[in-house]
Amino acid sequence: MPREDAWRIALEILERIRPSEEEIRKAYRIYDFIRERLSEVFRDGFSIDLYGSIAKGTAISGDLDLDIFILIPRELGRKWIRDNFVRLARKALSDIEVEERYAEHPYLRARIEGFEADIVPAIKIEKASEALTAADRTPFHTEYVRRMLREDLKDHVRLLKKFMKGVEVYGAEIKVGGFSGYVAELLIISYGGFLDVLEKASRWRPPVVIIPPGAEDKISVDEARRLFKGSALIIPDPVDVRRNAGAAVTIKSLSSFILASKLYLEKPGRFFFEPPEISEDRLKTVLSKQRERGSCIVAIQLRLGQNAPDNIWGEIKSLSRRIYNILSSENYPVLRRDEYWDEASNKALIILELLSCSPEEPIHVEGPPANVDNSLEFIEKQLSMGEGFWIDDHGRLHGVRKRNRSVIEAIERITSTAPLPRDIIGIDRIYLDPEEILKTWEGSKGFKEWLACFLASLPRYLIDLQTSRSNYSPRA
Ligand code: CTP
Ligand code: MG
Repeated sequence: MPREDAWRIALEILERIRPSEEEIRKAYRIYDFIRERLSEVFRDGFSIDLYGSIAKGTAISGDLDLDIFILIPRELGRKWIRDNFVRLARKALSDIEVEERYAEHPYLRARIEGFEADIVPAIKIEKASEALTAADRTPFHTEYVRRMLREDLKDHVRLLKKFMKGVEVYGAEIKVGGFSGYVAELLIISYGGFLDVLEKASRWRPPVVIIPPGAEDKISVDEARRLFKGSALIIPDPVDVRRNAGAAVTIKSLSSFILASKLYLEKPGRFFFEPPEISEDRLKTVLSKQRERGSCIVAIQLRLGQNAPDNIWGEIKSLSRRIYNILSSENYPVLRRDEYWDEASNKALIILELLSCSPEEPIHVEGPPANVDNSLEFIEKQLSMGEGFWIDDHGRLHGVRKRNRSVIEAIERITSTAPLPRDIIGIDRIYLDPEEILKTWEGSKGFKEWLACFLASLPRYLIDLQTSRSNYSPRA
């Protein structure tokens, strides 16, 4: 009875993630406190409001963040926000611990009594289509969800968000490229309930187009497909259908979600919502298994400058792609890559797995057909390297060569041939030994888990798969 089990487990999880009345009351008390302080400084023409998941009734217990917005009169404009917002908000909250952050706009993050409160500026507008940033759109999203999300479905949103967090696809930031809280809400509003979303998702074929209630009469599936061509997930925003609410979702995280949905429906388990801890033992077996496999691990340690997280992540990922492409073009058998960023030390790691790193091993090069103009160039190159060539059954030239450069030389050349992205100050070090990587980085938050998952090539929620097979065996 997988469907019944799927729901039974979901209910168990729900008990733990539904905030208590006490928790919500406390959140509102903190909101009132901050709001009062802010209202002393932001007076005529400004409004201060609570938006986000607490206001929508979709927040997860223990994870409550307050999204406090200050709506700025439109005539003051964005420049005014840039020049004044942080200074004024800091002044209003002078006795509270705050940290300045930057997204599409500068904002403050305050920490009080275990709660995190974002104090976000947005421009007061009439229609969502006038919005320039996500923050400007937030009041409209909150209003839509409050109007459209049935009381009994709020828990379904909580479950879906918890599931998405567990399978690491929650969050629209560049790091994740996944589903925002709002998209989770739109999925529940469009499909009905937690298991309905998973069932639909298990049959999705990208690009996925969903027209949520309230948008149907403003845009058709075909129009949406045309307008948002190139996106993996297309959900015209019901408050502004010219914008794709699912734009941040990459084909990779969409695929992770599809796969996790299939797996959960087939063999439900708590571990999808609450990924297992990774023990020292597990980490050791992962390391030795990788060694037995005999593939090659390369990691590149980066020193970073200061910038907003989305910018830093964008740069790390773009450099990672570049390294991957360069190694491929040097005929290294690169399999995959991943990235880690430690905010505390402001260092990052790009890690790659290759079938082999050995510069001695031969590589197969495919040349042109014998009859084309430049076929002699291929043969001359082969001969100059002391190698021969052959013609296959279709008349094409082939040869075997040695690589020009070791993996490390190939990576080092990247810095000398093209400038690094702006906030990547330099390459500190290149590792070829996973044990060495672990020794240097194990103190960083979440690092062991990240490394273990990469080396095992398993998503976090399945990391225990090999140690306790009983835990998961499809169609058992
Ligand atoms: N937002 C923003 N800047 C921030 C924080 C939030 O612009 N520093 C906006 C987001 O764009 C979003 C809304 O505020 O429209 C709420 O964001 P978020 O907290 O990410 O989503 P929630 O629905 O509150 O979900 P969660 O439970 O994850 O907090
Ligand atoms: Mg929030």
